[in-house]
Amino acid sequence: MAALLEATDLAKTFGHLTAVNGISFTVEKGEVMGFLGPNGAGKSTTMKMLTGFLRPTRGRARIAGFDVESQAIEAKRHLGYLPEGAPLYVDMTPVEFLSFVAAARGLDRRASGQAVERAIDATHIGGVAHQSIDTLSKGFKRRVGLAQAILHDPEVLVLDEPTDGLDPNQKHEVRRLIRDMAPGKAIVISTHILEEVEALCSRAIVIDRGRVVADSAPEELRRRSRHHNCVTLTVQGGDPDAVRGALQAVDRVARVEVAGTGPVTATVWPRDGVAVVEPVLQAVHRQGWTLVELAVDPGRLDDVFRSLTTGDADLEKTGS
Ligand SMILES: Nc1ncnc2c1ncn2[C@@H]1O[C@H](COP(=O)(O)OP(=O)(O)OP(=O)(O)O)[C@@H](O)[C@H]1O
Ligand SMILES: [Mg+2]
Repeated sequence: MAALLEATDLAKTFGHLTAVNGISFTVEKGEVMGFLGPNGAGKSTTMKMLTGFLRPTRGRARIAGFDVESQAIEAKRHLGYLPEGAPLYVDMTPVEFLSFVAAARGLDRRASGQAVERAIDATHIGGVAHQSIDTLSKGFKRRVGLAQAILHDPEVLVLDEPTDGLDPNQKHEVRRLIRDMAPGKAIVISTHILEEVEALCSRAIVIDRGRVVADSAPEELRRRSRHHNCVTLTVQGGDPDAVRGALQAVDRVARVEVAGTGPVTATVWPRDGVAVVEPVLQAVHRQGWTLVELAVDPGRLDDVFRSLTTGDADLEKTGS
């Protein structure tokens, strides 16, 4: 089966500025793809081209197999799009606005009523459904935008910073909504919140200056972090120098830092991110020290994000 969303060599120049410089990827049903990158990297510009709202300088996009330019009507039938900042018809109420969108999408009265009700429920905007949109708070406006995007239950969702401006409870709700919808859809979300990527996305694409610099599962990206497989342990019974010495002698340990005197807490960085927890534990056991606490770091996405987009290689793994 063809991918539900397909970008092929998308590029956009504005005068002398190349905002997007040849981006290709596909998103399959069931995937939630996180679209990451620093401010100005080209995320929103790419999303506008994906959804047919901006004509690319080069390349093309397909939604459910339909070209967004030459088969725009069919493509849009399968697409829900939450634009950045969500410009809305501010003098309408959410119910009026959503009914208007439903009519524009060709739903009849009965189907429209049901779709509007469902979208209002899913985004928890029932309490403000009859209040003019321009009087709503930022978070509620964002949720009205989201209701608009999911109104016709499309197979493809492109959401530009869907949780921007929401309070922590609402962020949680929106993430849950996206997760619940995920199995039947192909979803792309842009975000600056890396924990959102970990909570929600099966795949992450990082772009920098208009180009893809990484495309993999979040766990895969985390593995590139200098903290991946880093072991932090607290032991009782050895003095700091003895603990440092014993752990530094463990095979494939690159560096050890110790703190404290009573119980000593040590942080152990492995070479090339290999797992060293077992030999570290054996070393502690051989010395007859008591293990008080132990944690293994899965790695940190923000390290990898910064390394990919600033070129600071120190943030990646400690080499041999
Ligand atoms: N209509 C336009 N005319 C000129 N330049 C533009 C236009 N739209 C975007 N740009 C420029 O293209 C680049 C990419 O912008 P874009 O909005 O896609 O970034 P972004 O990754 O979404 O950033 P953010 O994280 O801040 O939302 C920026 O340098 C921006 O100033
Ligand atoms: Mg943007």
